[in-house]
Amino acid sequence: MTRIFSGVKPTGHLTLGNYLGAVRRWAEVDQYRAEALFSVVDLHALTVEHDPGRVRRLSRQAATLLLATGLDPEVCTLFVQSHVDEHARLSYLLECTATDGELRRMIQYREKSVSARAAGEGVRLSLLTYPVLMAADILAYGTDEVPVGEDQTQHVELTRDLAVRFNQRYGHTFTVPRATRPEVGARVMDLQDPTSKMGKSHANGAGIVYLLDDAETVRRKVMRAVTDSGQDVEYDRDVKPGIANLLDLMAAATGGNPEELAGVYQSYGALKKDTADAVVELLRPLRERHAELAADPGHVDQVLRDGAERARGMARPLVDRAYRAIGLLPAG
Ligand code: TYM
Repeated sequence: MTRIFSGVKPTGHLTLGNYLGAVRRWAEVDQYRAEALFSVVDLHALTVEHDPGRVRRLSRQAATLLLATGLDPEVCTLFVQSHVDEHARLSYLLECTATDGELRRMIQYREKSVSARAAGEGVRLSLLTYPVLMAADILAYGTDEVPVGEDQTQHVELTRDLAVRFNQRYGHTFTVPRATRPEVGARVMDLQDPTSKMGKSHANGAGIVYLLDDAETVRRKVMRAVTDSGQDVEYDRDVKPGIANLLDLMAAATGGNPEELAGVYQSYGALKKDTADAVVELLRPLRERHAELAADPGHVDQVLRDGAERARGMARPLVDRAYRAIGLLPAG
């Protein structure tokens, strides 16, 4: 049976980008068509300046939200990464497989290390090695498919390279996974700056729709979205990135096609209004379900405990095999 693994890192409140790029498909499709594992990858939240209490809160909130989107713990496995030691255990072997050159080439490292330096902060070594831990997350489960947004493509490519290299050197151990992306919504852009990705850790939230924003806030953010010069509604990501982003959102929220939708609208204002309505309706059930689940944190904790136990059982034999393959003496 196909294995699927994916994760979100608790560095901020989850956004519409996370939902449309990844999480929605996990809940609607992926969990039913494969043996699927989804993780709140909390170790990844420690690669930049962080507040311990906030990471803890965001981890529980992310898990609660993932359940609210429809992940069913009877159908898939939901867990917190740090509850399963195999990720860190495998990561070290993959550090011994990767080279520093290939990690320094990662776009996210280049971007984030520049901003950390600019802010006068040291660049944590884990920011450089983070894609190796991500590769361990994926390879520990014999994963075939990794449903992610476009920004993770390079990391999944690295994961493939490491799997192939390890297998060539030490004998076949890992499945070589591939990234999968949604047709629409693989790259949701910031509403205030449609040339950059809507990211949960941006300082200014005006262009970011958070999944837990109330209806009025969502509406306001969409209505104030930066648009492009001209008046015609056209789907052209290079020339009209703001309008293209709204058309993508509208298409993703209503199941339409952004190019076809462009022909329906005569004005930017009408497109904004319909997009705002569509996004509000898309998120409403999610927010309501989140409120119910948040009232019972004991249930969420139980789901996470069960999930971690199942995940451990799946990862352990494969990681043990990798330890033997690379030349480490088995313990007794
Ligand atoms: P993270 O937490 O930044 O994002 C979680 C998922 O949301 C997608 N995404 C987006 N998709 C479309 N438009 C956007 N604006 C947008 N912003 C985020 C991401 O592509 C991702 O699929 N490194 C990963 C977390 C991770 C992981 C893994 C993922 C760690 N280990 C193993 C898959 C498998 C990350 O930072 O995602």
